[in-house]
Amino acid sequence: MAQKTKVLKEKDLATAVRLLKAGQVVAFPTETVYGLGANAFDSAAVEKIFRAKGRPADNPLIVHIHSQEQLRDLVTAVPKKARALMDRFWPGPLTLVLPKQEAVPSIVTAGLATVGIRIPNHPLALRLLQKTGFPLAAPSANISGRPSPTHLEHVLTDLGGRIPAVLDGGEAVYGLESTVLDCTAEPFRLLRPGSALLEDLRQITPVEAGEGHAPPGPGLKYEHYTPNADVYLILGVGTPAKIEELSEHYRREGKKTAVMTWDERARLYPGQNIFPMGPKGNLQAVAANLYHLLRRADKQGIDVLFVEGIEEEQMGLTIMNRLRQAARGRVIQT
Ligand code: TXA
Ligand code: MG
Repeated sequence: MAQKTKVLKEKDLATAVRLLKAGQVVAFPTETVYGLGANAFDSAAVEKIFRAKGRPADNPLIVHIHSQEQLRDLVTAVPKKARALMDRFWPGPLTLVLPKQEAVPSIVTAGLATVGIRIPNHPLALRLLQKTGFPLAAPSANISGRPSPTHLEHVLTDLGGRIPAVLDGGEAVYGLESTVLDCTAEPFRLLRPGSALLEDLRQITPVEAGEGHAPPGPGLKYEHYTPNADVYLILGVGTPAKIEELSEHYRREGKKTAVMTWDERARLYPGQNIFPMGPKGNLQAVAANLYHLLRRADKQGIDVLFVEGIEEEQMGLTIMNRLRQAARGRVIQT
């Protein structure tokens, strides 16, 4: 049902709180991406999240809290090493998967016996959580399968008319989602690389990172982060020649092509429509801008988008994870 989506500012926080208390959904900013929140203990409210996003029911939601004390109502146990991670990374972009309390509705966890939880590091999100008093179940505030929203405008593009309100918190600082870590067995297991770096987690505790091709976390089969364009991820020293060859081919078919590349390599693609990712030396800036660029490709009606890869370490691991998904298997090693 179409409805008018209110854009709420900081001074309108009470309106967001009232809507959430009335069992409605509200999009709100976090330091990673915007989330679409509802009372985690209210199944009917959480159901509205799935409906607004068109999200498959077997993809569990992350529960957001403002203090570790709230864990008591949500999980049955916190391993010592998980507590150490919380102390180090919360508030921040790390989601910990722990055994859930019975009181957490199964719609939130997609029927799993575990629940993913984090304290977001955004002043508005924290105030919202404090004032509502209950934890907020919240996936990213995009239509399922689309790049996560890092600007207010992205939320409105995807969910305008489908949700009652969005709280404006400016641009997301990190721009890529939280790291999801399964803490139900040791060593802990990385389910989704994210804005908290694997290397930093490993300073606290060993983490298994799917090097042995561990099965992905539930719902990860759905996370495509895709623009409408066909994305080709090109790797290796022959990248510029390969992109030249492919773009010529697609242009002859009448397709609109573009190249997403590192600032310092843009000169390797004369005559191409360049989407500058940022400098290789500042991957944080690249991460913050990535989803915006993918969405810009849609706005410009790009049919085929060629993207250059990067080393899969530090934030490069997370960036490449999202690029591989955007490419949906169209990865060419030159
Ligand atoms: O940064 C973020 O994580 C953002 C902001 C809003 O917090 N949220 C986000 O949510 O990205 P979403 O729903 O787009 O991604 C949640 C991920 C999914 O991959 C889901 O499968 C996983 O977390 N997840 C949630 N609960 C889980 C559980 N109990 N066990 C395993 N994976 C879980
Ligand atoms: Mg998402």
